[in-house]
Amino acid sequence: MMADAARYNVDRGAQIIDINMGCPAKKICNVMAGSALLRDEPLVAEILEAVVRAVPATPVTLKIRTGWDRENRNALRILKIAEESGVRALAMHGRTRACGYGGEAEYETIKQVKAAARIPVIANGDIDSPEKARAVLASTGADAVMIGRAAQGRPWLFREIEHFLNTGSHMLPPPVSEIREVLLDHLDDVYLFYGRQAGVGIARKHISWYTRGLPGSAFFRHHMNQLPTVEQQRRAVNEFFLALSDDNERLPATSQPEVATGDTPCEELAA
Ligand SMILES: Cc1cc2nc3c(=O)[nH]c(=O)nc-3n(C[C@H](O)[C@H](O)[C@H](O)COP(=O)(O)O)c2cc1C
Repeated sequence: MMADAARYNVDRGAQIIDINMGCPAKKICNVMAGSALLRDEPLVAEILEAVVRAVPATPVTLKIRTGWDRENRNALRILKIAEESGVRALAMHGRTRACGYGGEAEYETIKQVKAAARIPVIANGDIDSPEKARAVLASTGADAVMIGRAAQGRPWLFREIEHFLNTGSHMLPPPVSEIREVLLDHLDDVYLFYGRQAGVGIARKHISWYTRGLPGSAFFRHHMNQLPTVEQQRRAVNEFFLALSDDNERLPATSQPEVATGDTPCEELAA
């Protein structure tokens, strides 16, 4: 089935097939998919070999967690299976499945996997700033970092990290006018992809992320969450950022919450 899905997507223009064995969601793991696959190494080998064989001209990459739980951290064995199957890169989230999203990601297992790897290793988990990206690259030796939640509502984070890694200095915050344009384009993509009605609902969480911590944003979000149409939602966003740009040429400093919630180390959660 996964081989068929890979072929289907390559036939429709996919340039890479990334297999997700990192998803911790119950509804996924209950059907032996996502991170549940890490418990069945022969099945991992079977899937990877079948997918690589199905799309020989397309790179196949794999995303995993460090293992199912602390007693079963088998990332090193999964790495070897992946390499032998022809997988071209491995992304690792520094939590076990048992950790869910709790505690803090650990990077020691990623470091061990990188030291043993012949393919590029991408470190992932709780990277939310240029400094953190640099620290994780240094401590793991990874070839790249992957960022998820910290980029929600903050897509310019990638260029900020790239700039910091290249120069050691920080970029200025993005102009408010640019954020307004980026968000309005993003909303148009959401409406197009999900349809206008579902799109308005889905867009609300993205608007919340973009406006988190900005002056007047709590009141704005309360108002915006009640607007039922694309036109009203778009207009409200446009006006919020136009008003913000009256007093701020660039994004003002915000008090954004840390990405990771809770301060229990992943190790303890898995215990
Ligand atoms: C809403 C949401 C959707 C995600 N979807 C995927 C996915 O489709 N494929 C995947 O490999 N990882 C997915 N992830 C996991 C992230 O890629 C990443 O491993 C995880 O969020 C930890 O990284 P972060 O701390 O930078 O967010 C998802 C995460 C979230 C929060």
